[in-house]
Amino acid sequence: MSIDRLCAYFGFTRMPFGRALAPGALFRSAAHAEAVARLGWLIDERGLGLLTGEVGAGKTVAARAAVAALEPSAFQVVYCANPTVGGRGILSLVVAALGGVPRYHRSALVPQAADALAIAEAERGRRVLLICDEAHLLVPEQLEDIRMLSNSEMDSRSPAAIVLIGQPTLRRRLRQGAFAAIDQRITLRIHIEGMDLTETPAYLRHHLSLAGRSDTLFSDDAVAVLHQSSRGLPRAVNNLALQSLIATFAADKGIVDQAAAKMAVVEVAGD
Ligand SMILES: Nc1ncnc2c1ncn2[C@@H]1O[C@H](COP(=O)(O)OP(=O)(O)OP(=O)(O)O)[C@@H](O)[C@H]1O
Ligand SMILES: [Mg+2]
Repeated sequence: MSIDRLCAYFGFTRMPFGRALAPGALFRSAAHAEAVARLGWLIDERGLGLLTGEVGAGKTVAARAAVAALEPSAFQVVYCANPTVGGRGILSLVVAALGGVPRYHRSALVPQAADALAIAEAERGRRVLLICDEAHLLVPEQLEDIRMLSNSEMDSRSPAAIVLIGQPTLRRRLRQGAFAAIDQRITLRIHIEGMDLTETPAYLRHHLSLAGRSDTLFSDDAVAVLHQSSRGLPRAVNNLALQSLIATFAADKGIVDQAAAKMAVVEVAGD
């Protein structure tokens, strides 16, 4: 199934339900809008925040939208996409992002990172925002690094705003005794839920209108099937919606009906 043929069949000007949306083109679900607003507050307050949600709930997208709203000259964003790649750890990443050459030994790296943060703010007027995505994969030593970054001994204020993004297991993990020191420093906890029964259809319409179709393309009962199967999680909605379009094309129909939606559920579930 080629994307071009699918677009031509439905009259799309671009492929709907794709990943590459500009921050301004995102759908403002209640959970998304609240997460973005609260992240903005957290960054202002130089807090340590926890952003959790199930796989595909829209965590990374929300963090990107919060970053896009910042004044670029006033912030230095250090984004760690995945703590298991890149080897040398969070502190090296911070030092390197701030223009330093990370020292080899961890004992030297800790003060170096603290200095780099302080200098970024004091001399360049740029507050540092550290975002650790996939933070449920952080190992204890990395969490300890983050804890150290969240409070410098010189200053009662945190030298950086820090956001840990991860799956719901991250919340539970941090509650375990070994991580009490970091858990207690968390100033804001944000959890992104799936969209509700009224939001999923609005989300579908949003994506479809970005692709040039503002008329009704999915029947109500098809939408109900997609909502139930996806539990309103945006990535799952995208995958199911795309498969529904393919099934509709294959059946040579103009409207995505319940039969197409059910075929999509089977297709995506892979059974
Ligand atoms: N508000 C939104 N508007 C439009 N599309 C969205 C929105 N939120 C999520 N999506 C879509 O859902 C996909 C998944 O979102 P995202 O990558 O942010 O999820 P995640 O919670 O970070 O998932 P993971 O746990 O796998 O990292 C995005 O690629 C995007 O296509
Ligand atoms: Mg993500």
